[in-house]
Parts: sequence; C-alpha cells; structure tokens
Amino acid sequence: MARVLITRRIPSSVLNLVAADHTVDVCTDDAPLSREDFKRRVADKDGLIAVATDRVDGDLLDAAPALKIVANIAVGYDNIDVPAARQRGVVVTNTPDVLTEATAEFTWALILAVARRVAEGDRLIRAGAWTGWALDFMLGTELRGKQLGIIGAGRIGRAVASKAPVFGMKAVFAKRKSTAGDPRAMSVDELLISSDVISLHTPLTPDTRHLIDRRALARMKRTALLVNLARGPVVDEEALVWALGERLIAGAALDVYEKEPHVHPGLLQFDNVVLAPHLGSATRETRTAMIELAARNVLAVLAGNEPLTPVR
Ligand code: GLV
Repeated sequence: MARVLITRRIPSSVLNLVAADHTVDVCTDDAPLSREDFKRRVADKDGLIAVATDRVDGDLLDAAPALKIVANIAVGYDNIDVPAARQRGVVVTNTPDVLTEATAEFTWALILAVARRVAEGDRLIRAGAWTGWALDFMLGTELRGKQLGIIGAGRIGRAVASKAPVFGMKAVFAKRKSTAGDPRAMSVDELLISSDVISLHTPLTPDTRHLIDRRALARMKRTALLVNLARGPVVDEEALVWALGERLIAGAALDVYEKEPHVHPGLLQFDNVVLAPHLGSATRETRTAMIELAARNVLAVLAGNEPLTPVR
C-alpha cells in the first residue's frame, strides 16, 4: 500500500478508487494548502494529486523523497517544475483531451459575451438602469465575416477554431511547428494586425510570458477583441489596462489572470471587459473526467505501469 496526498476535495467515487489500493490523505477544506502544510503532508507520500494552484518545485520535491508521481488536475502544468521532477525520477502527468470541448465551449461563451455585451447588459439591468428598448442601444459587434486569430494551435485552440464556421468566422493560426503546411497559419504579428478576435490558448512558458504586451496590443485593430483562456501571465495586464484606456482595442474577455485570484483593479473599470473566474474547464462532466484521469495516472504509476497521460 502506497500513500497518496490529494490537495483538494474530490468526488467520493474517485476517492474510493484510489483508497481501494492506497492510503489516502485528502485535504477537505477547499482552499490551497499553505506551503508549510503542503511540505509536511507530502513528506511521506508516494503519489500526489495536485491542482494548478499548487506550486510543485524542487524544494517541495526534496521534501518528499519517496514521491513517484505528481498528477496535475489540469492540462497546463506551469505550476510544476518538470525538469526538477525528471531529475528526481518523479513522473508528471496532466489531463489533456478530457477538457478540450468544455474549454472550447467556454471560449465561445466569452467571445459572444464580449462581442454582444452580455455581462454589461446584465449589470445594467441589475443596477435598475434599463430605460427601455432603443434602436441604437448597446450595439455590439457581429462575428459573421470576421477573422478569429488563434494563438496556441493545440487541442483547445483547434477545437475553438472548429466552431468558427458556425458563426461565419474564418479562423487563422499563429505559426508554429504544428501548423506547418496549414494555409491558415501566419506569423503572430500578421495575426495580430489582421484579426478581429484574438484568442489565446498557448501554454505558459518563458517564451509566451507577456506575449501580449504593449507592442502586441498596439498592433491590433482598434475594433479587435482579446480573449484569454490560456494563463494570465501570457498577457501583460498592466499593458492591457493601458491599451483599453487608450482605446487601442475594443474589448477583452479574460478567464485567467496574472496573480489569481487577484484581478488587476484597472480591469474592473472597463465595461468592455468580461471577467470570468477561471472557469474554462468547469463543467461537472469535465471536472469529473479530469479528476478521474489524474487518479488513474497515479494508480498506473504506483502499480509500476506507464502513466496514461505523461508530460514529456
Ligand atoms: C486549467 O486551467 C487547466 O490547465 O486545465
């Protein structure tokens, strides 16, 4: 019997799956563990099921010498120092595929929300400020005939693009290895200059940190909408507040932030910004599938088998 730490409450069906073979230490209050508690509770564990808010670095791994696997309940794994894990012989897994559709759906929810001023209209009604229907009241932007620029042509970016024709949009991709030969692929600069909606789906890496900075924002059309469901630090929030203030772009819809759960106060002042609290994969079906996949990765590795979805 091995020992497994699970840093958040999980459905009992999945908990029982792990507990059938192993001793489980599960955090039951649904807040992130303090660094001290995290190190203390992981110290004697063989397996760790973590979430994107848990920082797993060399220091934490050194506190858990028996650890064999870190299973992240997320497709992104910028919270884990993967080279440090590899050095220590610890397998890292994530949860790709199972969340692709949910995240793509939510991307469209945000695109539509910012283009058609859904959240702003809701706020207006709740504030008792709606005085009645008018021909030119709260006009938005039509998607039909517009270009959707996807930065991050992975599973989620492509799933978002696959729904573009439904709205009469043409999808284009920022060039990278996976888009070689795709006639819709173009340089990031070309994409920024020519797209009407720019949607970010790239992992957070040293190369993509602040990819959307002042320079990038200044290249966008004044009518462009920026959507971020990747990771907060892909966008320089200070620069975004500046661009919105200067009206260099027409609006933004964000699901992720540089310092979650803190949101740059400058963003709160703009009615043309839709703010979601990191809900990209948050459907009952998908979250259950993600948790189950993380658990199955742990079970596989602790049984001496290959993980199902390793981070390479
Ligand atoms: C969520 O943000 C994820 O990476 O799965």
